[in-house]
Amino acid sequence: MDSAVRRNKREPSITIISHRGASGHRPEHTLGSYELGARHGGDFIEIDLVSTSDGHLIARHEPEIGGTTDVAEHPEFADRRTTRTIDDRERTGWFAEDFTLAEIKTLRATERIPDIRPDNTGHNGAYEIPTLQEIIDLAGKLTAELGRRVGIYPETKHPAYHASIGLELEPPLIAALHGNGLAGPEPRVPVFLQSFERESLAKLRETELPLVFLMGTQEHWRPFTTPDGLAEVASFADAIGPAKDLVIGRGPEGTLGEPTSLVDDAHAAGLLVHPHTFRSENRFLPADLHSGADPTAYGSFAAEYEEFFAAGVDGVFTDHSRHAFLAREIFLEGD
Ligand code: G3P
Ligand code: CA
Repeated sequence: MDSAVRRNKREPSITIISHRGASGHRPEHTLGSYELGARHGGDFIEIDLVSTSDGHLIARHEPEIGGTTDVAEHPEFADRRTTRTIDDRERTGWFAEDFTLAEIKTLRATERIPDIRPDNTGHNGAYEIPTLQEIIDLAGKLTAELGRRVGIYPETKHPAYHASIGLELEPPLIAALHGNGLAGPEPRVPVFLQSFERESLAKLRETELPLVFLMGTQEHWRPFTTPDGLAEVASFADAIGPAKDLVIGRGPEGTLGEPTSLVDDAHAAGLLVHPHTFRSENRFLPADLHSGADPTAYGSFAAEYEEFFAAGVDGVFTDHSRHAFLAREIFLEGD
């Protein structure tokens, strides 16, 4: 494990990664969401990156922007609505790569899941779509203000797709990291770089930053979850970011199951483990941790964190950083 990873590992003993910011409380991937995530105790701002038509990196979970912006209310962009296949998935809507940054800046963010997070819709229209540079600047501002280093945790989204349309994500990301003193063995604030695509991580290796290989539950990732597979992952990454079901799955009734050997196997291979994604609403929790039938109500989230902390994870991606922060306090006090 290289020195950057060891340093990140030393900072808090369990790393809280504010997933899309404080996305349980604000429309995701906005400066308001990121700032709140840090104020709620998040150690890192998690950023999904896509490209505009003129090559600027902006924060959106996917190229399609109709689900998280007010673009549908802009008649001047009505003719940009189209259907596109990205990584074998067909989507109809508006796509970031068809908009210049100046055009993107005329849009405002909206809540992705208003049925589960109705309170967040009160913030619809309040925030622009942020650029990577704006988020880096925010992390610097919060680091100065909060008296602790607020890191960034960018993800290249659909990197092969972006390369196929001439909008490679890695060169502008690497340039931004170098330009802001965020590459090399001593970045200004801690940085992890993440991707579901190992080829993207290979391009990012030159930054000397710790790299996180994301894994889903689909068959594609199964070979990487074995001890041999994890040894291979350790040849091109420093950590894994598994879907949390790969760490502790669900029982037949949807209850929280028993831990798999993934954390121990990954640690044996020298890899950190940062599972995704923790969400406090009943809708997302195991059945035995529900607080009732209302899918929007918070359930027993602290119990879920406790099980994962006890399983040995090194960090968590969470939509509710303040809940993870409190659960970490309780867990570490009991240590
Ligand atoms: O990056 C960790 C996690 O965010 C991966 O899933 O789809 O929410 O980006 P996704
Ligand atoms: Ca992500």
